[in-house]
Amino acid sequence: MLLALESSCDETAAAVLAPPSTLLASEVASQVAEHRPYGGVVPELASRNHLLSLRPVIECALSAAGCGLDRMDAFAATSGPGLSSSLLMGNTAAKALALACGRPFIAVNHMEGHLLSPFMEGDLRPHVALVVSGGHTLLVHVRGFGDYRKLGGTRDDAAGEAFDKVGKMLGLPYPGGPEVEQAALGGDPRRFDFPRGMLDSGDFSFSFSGLKTSVLYTLQKLGEPDAATLADLCASFQLAVVEVLVAKAIGAARSCGERTVALSGGVACNASLREGLAVRCAEGGLELLAVAPEHSTDNAAMIARAAAERFARGQFSALAEDVDPNLALTP
Ligand code: KG4
Ligand code: ZN
Repeated sequence: MLLALESSCDETAAAVLAPPSTLLASEVASQVAEHRPYGGVVPELASRNHLLSLRPVIECALSAAGCGLDRMDAFAATSGPGLSSSLLMGNTAAKALALACGRPFIAVNHMEGHLLSPFMEGDLRPHVALVVSGGHTLLVHVRGFGDYRKLGGTRDDAAGEAFDKVGKMLGLPYPGGPEVEQAALGGDPRRFDFPRGMLDSGDFSFSFSGLKTSVLYTLQKLGEPDAATLADLCASFQLAVVEVLVAKAIGAARSCGERTVALSGGVACNASLREGLAVRCAEGGLELLAVAPEHSTDNAAMIARAAAERFARGQFSALAEDVDPNLALTP
């Protein structure tokens, strides 16, 4: 049995998993309400809240799983990428538990957690992964566990970051992603012809900063938007993001000769993205594995899933190993 902790940003999470993939508990304490007044994550506030939430979240997970610390075979935690003061909280807690219980510690890359999250219930198989979160936009060719080749990433803003910034511009609460999606309902996605950054670049890189600026200029020209215009702005922005993500993911699968596309990360909650990718995959005879919505935003179940792969291979980490805010997925 594994206990995994996640604290890379503003969610404090604990999960218990019986390897290889039986999830017994997954608890998440979100700090969204604490950060909302500031319009974004305040690192100092995040780490203090992790400290307060870790113990109750761990206790909830153990009680939901119906087992005590003595049943754990290893303790895992996210070691990067993320905010260092946040990472340190979950990481130190997992190391302390490992030391106290005389069990190994397993450091997990947060992005590897997202990458494996569409495979919570089954075996990992070769695929092309589209990972879209608040900090990353990545296309990766996954040939097996630990065998990752980065095909492309964003040159500037991550997809989730673009949603959050556009949400802020439009006066919507933090985090902007779900708010923009909600505000886009009933809007006309063709009213504003926003740029599809790098759509025809011929590679798998992304750029969302031009799109963000275009929304800003449009807004400046329009003045304060009424409800219908707000919906059209959100729907048009969302379509511009989705079209690029979908086109590049399909192109990547073709170029790698893979029949499976996996979608993960917080932006994978977005119904337009899920539907857009599902339609194009079906047209192209590709299989789509989209992460379950409850495992798309930050959670510890995905960290436990990645830890289980390491556990099976005896890949343990030293207690002296530091966290790394810039930890990369691929060399
Ligand atoms: O994976 P995640 O929880 O954290 C990171 O690792 O970054 O992703 C959070 C991101 C935020 O930018 C949030 O706005 C975005 O995911 N997000 C969404 C939606 N739900 C969350 N973006 C678009 N539509 C959504 N429904
Ligand atoms: Zn994440």
